[in-house]
Formats: sequence, C-alpha cells, structure tokens
Amino acid sequence: MVKGPLILYLQLPDKIPTKKPKSMTIEWNEKFSVSNTAIDAEHKSLFDALNSFYQGVQSGASNESLAALLTKLADYAATHFRSEEIFMKKIGFPELDRHKQEHQAFAEKIGGFLESYNSGKAPASFEVTHFIMDWIVNHIKREDMKYAKFSQGR
Ligand SMILES: [Fe+2]
Repeated sequence: MVKGPLILYLQLPDKIPTKKPKSMTIEWNEKFSVSNTAIDAEHKSLFDALNSFYQGVQSGASNESLAALLTKLADYAATHFRSEEIFMKKIGFPELDRHKQEHQAFAEKIGGFLESYNSGKAPASFEVTHFIMDWIVNHIKREDMKYAKFSQGR
C-alpha cells in the first residue's frame, strides 16, 4: 500500500503571544502602614529607590549606573534602619536585637551585590530586584508590624 504524503497543517496565530514579565514595581499602600507617619514615609522612599533601580534594570542601564542606583538604595536603607532601631529602642521593643540582625543581613546581601557590580561580575539584575522586593515586603509585613503592634499596645 502506497502511503500518501503526510501533510502537516500548522496553524499559526496572527500574533505570537509573548509572555509579559510581571511588573516588578512596588507601590506603597495602607497595608504596609506601621502606624507611624515618619516610618511610613521612609518606607515609601525605600520603595521609590527600588522602583528607580528596577527602571534602570528594565531600560538596560550599564552596570555602573545600576551600581550607583543600588548604592543609593543601600544608603537610604541604612538611614531608614537606623531610624527604625532608634524608634524600637525608644518604645522598649523586646525584639530589637533580632530585628537589628535582619537589617544587618540585608545590608550584607546588598553589599555583596554591589561588590559584584563593581568587580565587573554583575549579578542577574532581575533577580537582585526580586530579592530586594521580596525582602522589603516580607520584612515590613512580618517584622516591622511586630513593633507597630507593640507600640500601639503599650
Ligand atoms: Fe525593619
């Protein structure tokens, strides 16, 4: 038996769907509020610093520019952590040391990223963005909320 030619019909869509990457910008909302206007404002600025870094990543900025944006974020985070630690001390928050260690671990991680950028072995910038965003969101929701509750229950 002679087999006829095998014809494959390929249906190509007019437009090949491209998966849009999930946006990695972050916006402050009331869910992030630690019931302290000054600290809330600092968190907003931290989000802004992260969004600026991400914009750099998205627009394909040079490693030098990304390192500069990340330095800005790290400097701002350091200032913010100090002010949070002063606040926690002022209210007698019992988990201050543990909280401080978390801040320290974040600073070290960012320091590591910066070292990589500056030494020319740039880390994957989308992953850096993702790490920072994840850390900030979880840190505020899990850790910062603890001193927020404590300060309200005093
Ligand atoms: Fe904190």
